[in-house]
Amino acid sequence: MADTGAKSRMQVLVVGSGGREHAITLKLVQSPKVDAVWCYPGNAGMAQAARIPKLDSSDANTLAEFAEGQGIDLTIVGPEGYLAEGIVDVFRSRGLCIVGPSQSAARIESSKVFAKGLMEKYGIPTAAYRVFSEYQEAKGYIEEMGAPIVIKADGLAAGKGVVVAEDVETALEAVRVTLSGQRVGEAGRRIVVEEFMEGQEVSILALYDGKTCVPLVPSQDHKAVGDGDQGPNTGGMGAYSPVPVVDEALQREICQSILLPTLEALHKEGVTYTGVLYAGLMLTKAGPKVVEFNCRFGDPETQALMPRLRTDLAEVLLAVGEGRLASLPPLEWDPRACVSVIAASQGYPGPHDTGFPIVGLDAVEKMDDVFVYHGATALRGDEIVTAGGRVLSISALGDDIQGARDRAYEAIAKLDFENMYYRKDIAWRALDQGKVD
Ligand code: AMP
Ligand code: GLY
Repeated sequence: MADTGAKSRMQVLVVGSGGREHAITLKLVQSPKVDAVWCYPGNAGMAQAARIPKLDSSDANTLAEFAEGQGIDLTIVGPEGYLAEGIVDVFRSRGLCIVGPSQSAARIESSKVFAKGLMEKYGIPTAAYRVFSEYQEAKGYIEEMGAPIVIKADGLAAGKGVVVAEDVETALEAVRVTLSGQRVGEAGRRIVVEEFMEGQEVSILALYDGKTCVPLVPSQDHKAVGDGDQGPNTGGMGAYSPVPVVDEALQREICQSILLPTLEALHKEGVTYTGVLYAGLMLTKAGPKVVEFNCRFGDPETQALMPRLRTDLAEVLLAVGEGRLASLPPLEWDPRACVSVIAASQGYPGPHDTGFPIVGLDAVEKMDDVFVYHGATALRGDEIVTAGGRVLSISALGDDIQGARDRAYEAIAKLDFENMYYRKDIAWRALDQGKVD
């Protein structure tokens, strides 16, 4: 303990209410260094594993007051909204330890125009693009470039800000509804029009304390709602780790050509980034290129990473918050694979009914190497009921990806709620390389 400087009895606050935050919470609860984990706003799973404080509001000042009064040693923020609104600045101004970027640094996610400008200025590989706020100008550019082409709202849009247009007409319609505010409100008053990139996507998350960058193992999300990656994009329908196409050489390349130059670019712009930097990458024929940056842990990537992490998460995140990452030994990972499948409410990402009791949780929780992470769940009396789109993440470890996937699907088959829906093909790319390349 003394050698790493980590406190022996910590109280930790986890901000958020999804599967990602539940996975982080369960890892923290296991830590011998942690006395108590508090979650806000939390969900039914987090209420079982940790404590939910009674607060009047979920704004940053209220949370900071709670953290101060309760003597919280470390706060971890899941959702981007809090970061974009400056929760880290509020906590730091009170001398509280928190993992995450400042509001200014969070622009890497909260403004695509900022992120693209940074990448362009510093030569970080990404799709060619232009920024528009006038329809006619965007139209001229799209007609010149042709389709497929990608239209992105500048601001945060909860996963709804991007249209990958197969033809010019669809692209122009996306521009019209986005710029007019109809699609994602004010977040779409400026847009990025971007070259379409072809390839496999991969998520590389890294911890950064302002000096030392520690990448996590690669993972892959499944954004589309339907099997075979059909249908509208969601927050993510499942994930797995490791990703066989991302070998150690490619991980090094990503670190050297994308992660480190981005952190350095931010530094040169006078922005010190800290927390989790999530690079969403396209593995193109010309090498890895940035699709987007996020300023936080991914959901559902985190649900596929936490079961593999052997190092004490509390110790690592405290070191991020205190700028001591360099003093820690390398992260240790379970060599087994993890596959995480989301059980969602039918209809998500569109309108869907909620409030249905979830059955089978006890049976699944008894299974070895299976982890049930709650997302949109709530307690109704003694019952756990559905409360939104992405209800549960079922993660399983296995000797290889096939084994992990079989186990995850064996577990999910024991669960039921009215209108339960899940993809049947999570990790298909890893199991079907021939078709992909
Ligand atoms: P983003 O929110 O920027 O990650 O975009 C959401 C999804 O749209 C990504 O995960 C990709 O599947 C797709 N996408 C975004 N940008 C591009 C691009 N330039 N080329 C191809 N697909 C893209
Ligand atoms: N998995 C996508 C995200 O966390 O934004």
